Parts: sequence; C-alpha cells; structure tokens
Amino acid sequence: MITNSYSKNYKINGTAYIETKDIPFSKKEISDLGKYCKEVNKEFIEIGDAGEKNHLLVGRFMTDVKEPKLVDNEFTEKVIKIISSKKILNFIKKICNCNDEVYIRRAQYNEITEGCFVGYHLDKDSNPDYLAACVIQFGTDFSGGLYRVYNKSNTKKFIDYKPEYGSLLVSDCDYPHEVTKVEKGSRESLVFFVSKNNGKNNRYQKN
Ligand SMILES: [Fe+2]
Repeated sequence: MITNSYSKNYKINGTAYIETKDIPFSKKEISDLGKYCKEVNKEFIEIGDAGEKNHLLVGRFMTDVKEPKLVDNEFTEKVIKIISSKKILNFIKKICNCNDEVYIRRAQYNEITEGCFVGYHLDKDSNPDYLAACVIQFGTDFSGGLYRVYNKSNTKKFIDYKPEYGSLLVSDCDYPHEVTKVEKGSRESLVFFVSKNNGKNNRYQKN
C-alpha cells in the first residue's frame, strides 16, 4: 500500500511528505479549499500561538484556545466538511500509525509572503494533546519557505521539505520545526491539527 512508505517516513523522521499524486483529496476538493482560503478574512500575526516569532497572514476556520471552536464565516463549514471526512481522517491515521479515533481541533490558512517566515516552535506548546499537523500547500511559485523539521534528540540536525502545490505534509507535533523565510513569491497553505482528544485544551493544566 502507498501509505506504508509514508508512515515509515513519519515514524523515522517525524514527518511524511505526501506527493500531490498520492494525497487523499480530489482535485476539486483541493481547488475548493484553495478558493475558501483565498477569500477568508486574514489578520497579520507576529507572535505565534506557542509564543514563537512569526511574520505571516492568518485566516481562521477553527481555533483551539480553550477548546475547539468553529470561526463564524461563510467558509468554515465547507472547509471542515472536507478535511474531517472519514476518507481524510483514516488516511492521516494510517500515516501516524494511530488506531484510535482522531478529531480536528484547529484549522487555519497561513499566507507567508516575501521576507516572512514562521519561527522555530513546538506544536505541543499550543496543545499538549496534538498528534499531528497537516499542511496542504496551495502556493505555486515561491522560493524559500521550506518546512524544516528538527531531529528530536539533536536539534542541530534537520530535514527540509519543499512543498509543491497540492502536496500534504503530515508532521508529528513532538518535533520542533519552522518555516524558513520566503525569498520570492507567496507560500499559501491550509494547516490543521489532529488529536485523540476532542475536549478542553490541556495546555492550561500544566501550570
Ligand atoms: Fe507548527
């Protein structure tokens, strides 16, 4: 099965880069998601959810501050319907070698233009129960903007992924990562997080 080699990469490197030809979304779903992302209202973000330094535009569909919450706009329902279908969640579960039920907790569009980036961070600082981050790429013509995933035990080591249009990155939220500075063009992606927990965000229980 095609997912086997991807789940192996996920297990070894903390990330699976699923090429456009192998993604579980149809062409129409990708084009619809791209359209919703383009049209949704965006805000400029300089400090990320995990306290990291950022520089990007964000359009939100689902937030996860205290618990998962749908954002009230005309696209949210359509976006969530596509990304939370059985077909998609089962595919992600296979990549993550996960047999339990998983839920989407947060979904947002990130637009990173020339000179902008997403700073080094750990997704688990936003929510300790996040299992994986899933990133669908809509940018077609950009340079830089690499998805850089660091080795968990040796943070001097990393692997860079250059996401193509229509590709899907599935990344273990235990691995620190960043998006390097976009040198040219615009890097546009839909990011959503899956978790086995569908309840409260437990980050506030740490203190
Ligand atoms: Fe992240």
